[in-house]
Amino acid sequence: MKIKDKNFVEMLSREDIARIVERLAASLNADMEGKNPYFLVMMNGAVFFATDLLRQITIPCGLAFIKYTSYVGMGSSGKVTPVLPVPADVKGRNVVVIEDIVDTGETMKEFLSEIQRLAPASVRIVSFLAKPVALKHPLLIDYVGKEIGNEFVLGYGLDYDGLGRNIPDLLVYDGK
Ligand code: IMP
Repeated sequence: MKIKDKNFVEMLSREDIARIVERLAASLNADMEGKNPYFLVMMNGAVFFATDLLRQITIPCGLAFIKYTSYVGMGSSGKVTPVLPVPADVKGRNVVVIEDIVDTGETMKEFLSEIQRLAPASVRIVSFLAKPVALKHPLLIDYVGKEIGNEFVLGYGLDYDGLGRNIPDLLVYDGK
């Protein structure tokens, strides 16, 4: 499929995605039972993943949205700025941040330093995708849907220059 000037091919079908989300939700339901987790959804990319995941969370939980900007085109700009900051009521709560993809880890590093100042009881990360080879900072991602190589993906909430978020499958740039 051609998006703007690049060609993308399927990496995960919507059925593959559903199986991954089901597995992650089952782990979270088991691990967070009795902990009244507070889910923070990283906008915009994680919105599709978060709504699928949260519909399968069966334990009481809170929900809020946060947003940082960093990505320009196909590469990280390196500068991460909070646009929607972490809400102050995370104090004393067991926070689970929902991310679409951890690439260099810059966004998570910025998020973790911001949230630590607000004294949550605990912080866990659930990311639909992770690119371990691209990671620039040591980071423990508690729940990962799928690890991928240093490749550019799109769909299921992820965009290329503002396009492709609405595609229900996950596509990967095929180099053409
Ligand atoms: P990081 O700060 O480098 O870890 O990048 C995190 C953000 O960059 C993610 O939340 C995505 O919005 C975006 N991103 C990273 N890799 C990709 C990709 O392959 N396709 C689309 N967006 C990406």
